[in-house]
Amino acid sequence: MKTTLYYFTGTGNTLVVARNIAAILGDTDLVPIAALMKEKKNITTPEGRIGIFCPVYDMGIPVMVREFLQVFSISADSYLFAVLTLGGTGASALKMIDRAVKSHNGRGINAGFMVRMPGNFPPISVPPTGEKQRSILAKAEKDCNRIAEEIRNNRVVHPGMTPGSSLLQFILYEPFAKNVHNAGEKFSVSDACTSCGTCVSVCPSGNITLNDKLPVYADRCELCCACLNYCPVQAINLNMMFGTEGRGRYHHPAVTPADLRKQKELVHE
Ligand SMILES: Cc1cc2nc3c(=O)[nH]c(=O)nc-3n(C[C@H](O)[C@H](O)[C@H](O)COP(=O)(O)O)c2cc1C
Repeated sequence: MKTTLYYFTGTGNTLVVARNIAAILGDTDLVPIAALMKEKKNITTPEGRIGIFCPVYDMGIPVMVREFLQVFSISADSYLFAVLTLGGTGASALKMIDRAVKSHNGRGINAGFMVRMPGNFPPISVPPTGEKQRSILAKAEKDCNRIAEEIRNNRVVHPGMTPGSSLLQFILYEPFAKNVHNAGEKFSVSDACTSCGTCVSVCPSGNITLNDKLPVYADRCELCCACLNYCPVQAINLNMMFGTEGRGRYHHPAVTPADLRKQKELVHE
């Protein structure tokens, strides 16, 4: 059976999880949400299984994915699943997807899954390195195998009760979503910048341009932190919470800036 996966990624974790699951299922298209949302047209899903893949942000989902779900139409009988990647906790984000799909389509997801990956948000936690990072990635690969089997069998897995995560979502998510597009104001660029343009390439919302050879942020930031984490000379810092100086960086080791640039083009993998 044909499968179509819609994905959003900042630093490659979600893209790798989507690729792994696609490789196991076979006959699967990967469609980047960032490319679709440049046009903001209504999206009618094709026949077959449909998946939504994204990271957890502040116990919820990226705002671009929330907007995508407002223009996303799916028939009542298609098998629809969601796969979230996250650094720690955020099961409530599955419920957010379920609610968003229900409000537009009168039906929710058939199954929701989570894959723990290395965290990519240095202002809160220093990203794992070395053996710790490798062991998280190895466990994630096993999770992908298991999840792909569940999907292949069209298993129904309803999002369970998530009281702690839901409470945190209630406190954190709406302020995050309200302010995120202007989060670019919180990034600073040091003299180390070489004007290489990697930040421009990897930004999924096309929010960064080079002006006088320095990155300038507009008002469509998703706070995905691709710019921060992919900058080859760590010239970009994010002035939130504990800041990012000396706190390490992370992007998935198998995902290049060129892979992320493709996220803005409607080229199916
Ligand atoms: C702005 C922001 C908020 C995040 N919030 C959470 C969170 O609430 N819970 C969590 O477990 N991980 C959180 N993370 C970590 C990411 O969900 C995780 O690293 C994810 O795998 C990144 O996927 P990506 O590489 O596809 O962008 C957050 C990351 C960012 C950038």
